[in-house]
Formats: sequence, C-alpha cells, structure tokens
Amino acid sequence: MYIEKSSHAPYAADAIKSLLQALPLLSDKTHTRCIDRMFSIFSCINIFVMTTYQQAYRESIDSPETFWAQQAEALPWYRFPSTILSQDDNSFYRWYKGGSLNTCYLALDHHVEQGRAEQVALIYDSPVTNTKRHYTYLELRDEVARVAGGLQRLGVEKGDRVIIYMPMIPEAVFAMLACARIGAIHSVVFGGFAARELAIRIDDAQPKVVLTASGGIEINRIIHYMPLVDDALVQATHAVDRCVVFQRPGMEAVLDGPVYLDWNEWLADAPMADCMPVDATDPLYILYTSGTTGKPKGIVRDNGGHAVALRYSMQAIYDTQPGEVFWAASDVGWVVGHSYIVYGPLISGCTTLLYEGKPVKTPDPGAFWRVIAEHGVKTLFTAPTAIRAIKKEDPNGLLLQAYDLSRFRRLYLAGERCDAATYEWAKSLLGERDVIDNWWQTESGWPMIAQMPLYGMIPVKPGAAGRPVCGFDIQILDGHNQPMGPLQEGAVCIKLPLPPSCLPTLWNNDDRFRAGYLAPYPGYYFSGDGGYRDEEGYVYITGRMDDVINVAGHRLSTADMEEVVAQHPAVAECAVIGIQDSMKGQAPVGFVVLKEGIAISDEQIERELIQMVRDKVGAVASFKRATIVNRLPKTRSGKILRRIMRAIADGQAYSMPSTIEDPVVLSEIEDRMKEGKIGEAFDA
Ligand code: COA
Ligand code: AMP
Repeated sequence: MYIEKSSHAPYAADAIKSLLQALPLLSDKTHTRCIDRMFSIFSCINIFVMTTYQQAYRESIDSPETFWAQQAEALPWYRFPSTILSQDDNSFYRWYKGGSLNTCYLALDHHVEQGRAEQVALIYDSPVTNTKRHYTYLELRDEVARVAGGLQRLGVEKGDRVIIYMPMIPEAVFAMLACARIGAIHSVVFGGFAARELAIRIDDAQPKVVLTASGGIEINRIIHYMPLVDDALVQATHAVDRCVVFQRPGMEAVLDGPVYLDWNEWLADAPMADCMPVDATDPLYILYTSGTTGKPKGIVRDNGGHAVALRYSMQAIYDTQPGEVFWAASDVGWVVGHSYIVYGPLISGCTTLLYEGKPVKTPDPGAFWRVIAEHGVKTLFTAPTAIRAIKKEDPNGLLLQAYDLSRFRRLYLAGERCDAATYEWAKSLLGERDVIDNWWQTESGWPMIAQMPLYGMIPVKPGAAGRPVCGFDIQILDGHNQPMGPLQEGAVCIKLPLPPSCLPTLWNNDDRFRAGYLAPYPGYYFSGDGGYRDEEGYVYITGRMDDVINVAGHRLSTADMEEVVAQHPAVAECAVIGIQDSMKGQAPVGFVVLKEGIAISDEQIERELIQMVRDKVGAVASFKRATIVNRLPKTRSGKILRRIMRAIADGQAYSMPSTIEDPVVLSEIEDRMKEGKIGEAFDA
C-alpha cells in the first residue's frame, strides 16, 4: 500500500502503520473493516494534501501581495516594508520597498540572540585536506564580524563591490556574510574559471577589493590561484584597491606587489563590525552567469525578497527545520552554493555543510554516504551528474551499506535535467527516502518547479521537474505569446510579476535584462528553457532553447568558447555546440573551418584549442573535442545551424530548414562526426 506523506500526514501515517501491525491479531471481518477505515483516512489525507497545495498556489498567484506579506512576517526586519510589491522607474517589479533589514543579521546574530549561540552553524568537511571543523552560530558570527571589520578598514562601504575568488573553505563563507553585514555587494567567482573570466567580472563589477586564497585542491591536484589572480588583475582595466590572500597550509604563495595583503595579518587586529541596516531593495550580491554571448550576465539579488523566499523555500520545498542538518553538495561559486550552502540554511537556523571534495575519488564513491552519516544530514541537494558519477563507480551502491543513514530523509536534484535512469537508480538505492527533482536558475535564486512537501508530497513522475512552486505562474508559450495546451512543447515562461528573490535586473545593464528576458514574450519572463506540461500540471523541461549548455551541472556559454576558438590563428570560422554526454549531461565540441592555405592536423589543432579554452575559460568548461570541417551548415542569411548539428550528434530527428544555404553540408558534418566518433549517435 502506498501512503501519501506530507507535513501533516506523518501522524496519520504512523497511526496507519500501528493499525497494520495489529492486523494479524484481528478477525477477518474486523480486518476488512480496518482496511476500509485506513483507506478512507488515506483518501482524506490525500484530498487535504491536494487542496492545500492548490489553495496556497492560487493565493500566491491571485493575491501575491497578501501571500508574500505573510511570508515576510516570519523575518525579523528592522523596519517592516511599507509596500509589498511595486514597480521602479524602469517599470521593473520590486519587492518590499521601504523595508529595512540585514541579511547577515538574519543568518547569524538573530539566531545567537534567540538561543542558538551554541548550535553548530557550519561544518567544514574537507577530505582533500583531511580536515573537519565545526563553527557554532556564535563562533561564525564573530569570524564574520572580524572579516567585516577588516573590509571596513580597507574603505569598503555600503554598496561597494567585493569579488570573492576562493575554493570551498570557511573563509569564503565568512567573506560572503561579511559583505552582507556591512551592506557591501559580493560577487563570487567560481574557482574553476580562468584569469580572463575573472578579469571580465572585475571590469564589470568594478570591485574595491578582491578576496582570494593561495590555492584550491582538485582531488589531489593543487590549483595555484595566484598566477590566475595576478594575470586577471593585469588583464582587467579596472584597478582594485587591495587583494587579500588567505594562505592555505602547504600551498603558500609569494605575495608580490603593494596591492596584496596577507589574510591573517589583515585580520590580526581588525575590529568587529556591526550589522548595517540596508534597504530590502539594495543588492546583496551579483552573480555572473553564462548567456548567449561571451559576456556573462551579472544577476542582481536584492536583500529583502531573497531572504523571504529562501526562508520560505527551506520550509515549503526542502522541509528542513531549524536545528536540522542541510547539505548542498555544490560550490559557493554557483547559485546553489549561495542559496543553499550559505543563506537559506543559515537564515533558517539549520546547520549547513561546506564540503571540499567530490562525490567520487575523495576517496571513493561512498564519500556522500560517509558525510551524511557522520554529520547527521537530513537533506542532501546535489546535481544528477554527481549521482551518475557514484553510480558509475559503485553501480550496486554497496558502499552505502556501510553507513548509518537513519537521519537522512530526502535527496533533491537540480542544476540540470534529471534523466529517468538516474532518478530510478537513486530511488532504488535510497528506498523509502524521497528523490525530488527541482528546476530553477541563477536568475530565480530558488526553485520554480518542484515538490512542495509543506503542502503534501505528490507522486513523482520520472522526467518531470514537478509542479510550479507557489509564486511562479509558469506558462508554456508558442511563438505568438499564446499559452499552449498539455503535452505541447514551447518556451517555458513566467507571467510577471516574478515572486521575491528573482532578479530585478542585470548589473549595469537594464537594456540586456529587457531584451533577453522580457522582450521575447511580452508580459512574461523568458527562462531560456523549453518544455511542456501534462494534463496534471507536471512540467517537463526539455532543455535550453539558446546556446547555453549545462556540463556536469555547470552552466556555460558556447558563445564564450567560440570567441576563444576563433582566436586561433589557423581558424577562419567555428561553431561550438553542446552534445549529449552520458556522464556530464552535455559536453562542448568545436567544429572549425581552417583559413585558406593552412596545413595543420586534426590532432594538433584539437590539442591547441583544448589548451586555449582551458587557459581562457577554465578547466570547468570540459572542452575536450574539436575537429576540422570543410564548411559549416548555414542559412542563406549566414546563421550557423547549431541546433541541427546538435541533433545529428545526438541521433535525433530534425527537419531541414527551407532557408538552408546548401543541404549537402549537413551530410558532410555527419560524415565527420562518424569518422571522429563525435556524439553518442556515432560513439558506439
Ligand atoms: N577549481 C579548479 N578546477 C576545477 C574546479 C575548481 N573549483 N572545479 C572543477 N575543476 C576542474 C576539474 O578538476 C576538471 O579538470 P580536468 O579537466 O583537468 O580533470 C575540470 O574542471 C572539469 O571538472 P568537472 O566538470 O567537475 O569534472 P570532473 O571530472 O572533475 O568531476 C564530477 C566530475 C561529476 C565528479 C563533478 O563534475 C561533480 O561533482 N559534479 C557535481 C555537479 C555540481 O556540484 N554542480 C554544481 C551545481 S548544483
Ligand atoms: P544555473 O543558472 O546554473 O542554475 O542553470 C540553470 C539552467 O540549468 C536552467 O535554465 C536549465 O536549463 C538547467 N536546469 C536546472 N535545473 C534543472 C532541472 N531540474 N531540470 C532541467 N534543467 C534544469
């Protein structure tokens, strides 16, 4: 028998369980009556569960101000907002105008004041350095206050930007919260990005200070950060005032030049800074993410809407209560790390985990189960790729048997599409525990499609991301801005206004915000993803409609890689496309046309291009394949037919566009893919 679970249902479920245990003791007649009774209890729970999600969802869409005013009341504001929803001079929607708060106060000081001073706030678990450290809420607050004081002494004030380029060490968390504490705007840059990417972000954000570390560790390989930081500071046209370097034991860097400061010396006599009240609409951070050009987009996150939505999501979606252990196995350089390593769990009074390791090889595919058991994790959030990596190395999940996972309740998967096979494997391994897909983006900062256990679990349909989360009026639109019917694939859009936490605009680029997100479907936000909905309202995400790709849960731009590939002296023109990859979801591949008269082997140019992308974009791009072609398929107006190239590599059907310049080019490309075994269709 299937027992629906919900936050209200456990009591009823327990009652049913006790009845079941007693059944063998009853007579046949009583037995049947009992079962009937149980089913009626179960149906009541189910109906109750369905109506509460529907009610909450409808209220969030029909009366967003009432709904989000109620959610806002759960936070300790300095001044409650006078207006819940408004529009600014650009007509962009803004949440909680007139409200005053401090996100660091919500995440730390408030809990200290409310009796959580001795509760562990942050666990640092680093298999790559063999280190484990625990910080209570009080200790974390003091560490953060000192870094905040250090920043103030460097002249950092409210509204100033600070770039954080750090590996997964506690100092990265201190740095983020320290910025929040004094109203500075942080911009974390993922450690796997190369110097050029860091320089681009420095020039756009124009930070006063860069906070970094001497190095990171990738399994057993040291990544020295200083050559990258040196190079980025030279490449950037914006000059930063200071760059503070945390020296990691065993990989100390020589700090050469007046701009550099040693982290420990910097903080030796730094004062503790207090929380500074900021407006709800003031930016908390900028997080750059890949778009359809080589220039990343600076997603702006405000303070008020972000805090309200994250607190709500911890309860309504992640079902994690204050005092419980929540682990997002991601990196602080991605939005998942911002929302669910740092801000969400801490604002909610949970214990959060900072894991400096991988799902495999640190030291084995049992790493995740070890961390869950050792730290009593209730909720794990990771990307499907991590599960595929574990499955590949431990297909029968034998390593899981060695650990006590009794406190582990739910596995949440996001960051890329969760294929049915990955879901089924995780589900069969984890038994009773729920495995929950959820769809969102850097732009939203929290899930837009998911399960909402607060209102009751609904049956999972493998391949579907779930149903719309409260606040998100998800619509599948056709090319004429019209909603499509069930099972019809179109653009996944959200009717405006977006709920709290979603980007109000792009940093210094209102025009790009309008053009990229609002103009394509007037009245709606365009997510960039395609998808469809079934009759029961479940939404299926089929993939990006633009040139953004998702490699091992990392969002990357093929346009960015194309810019680099095009700089090779032998290349006349090129296309980089993302093709299916059974482990990483997608992988980039470059197709290059050589300049007239150039003689270079396929192997040599591939080697050189791989190195160029690694040096200029970063190892995280996972650019490992490139090949020479005679021509690229184009329309008569010169547009490269990347989507069709992708379909050929993935073995999918496509229709020949009537505007194609020369259809023969497609068979040439297909032959090349066959020869080079490029694409799962040809890599037998
Ligand atoms: N600093 C420097 N280099 C980094 C890095 C970082 N923070 N993160 C990744 N890299 C490097 C890797 O070492 C690798 O280099 P290599 O090509 O020299 O081997 C390259 O970037 C690609 O990294 P990755 O895509 O992570 O592949 P991998 O083979 O090292 O690991 C997985 C594969 C599945 C174990 C890993 O991708 C993973 O854990 N994925 C989970 C996804 C995730 O957390 N997503 C975040 C959003 S939820
Ligand atoms: P990012 O901004 O890095 O979080 O990447 C967001 C993109 O990742 C989305 O636009 C989707 O293309 C993809 N994505 C994230 N989560 C999911 C999911 N659960 N299912 C399908 N695609 C997803």
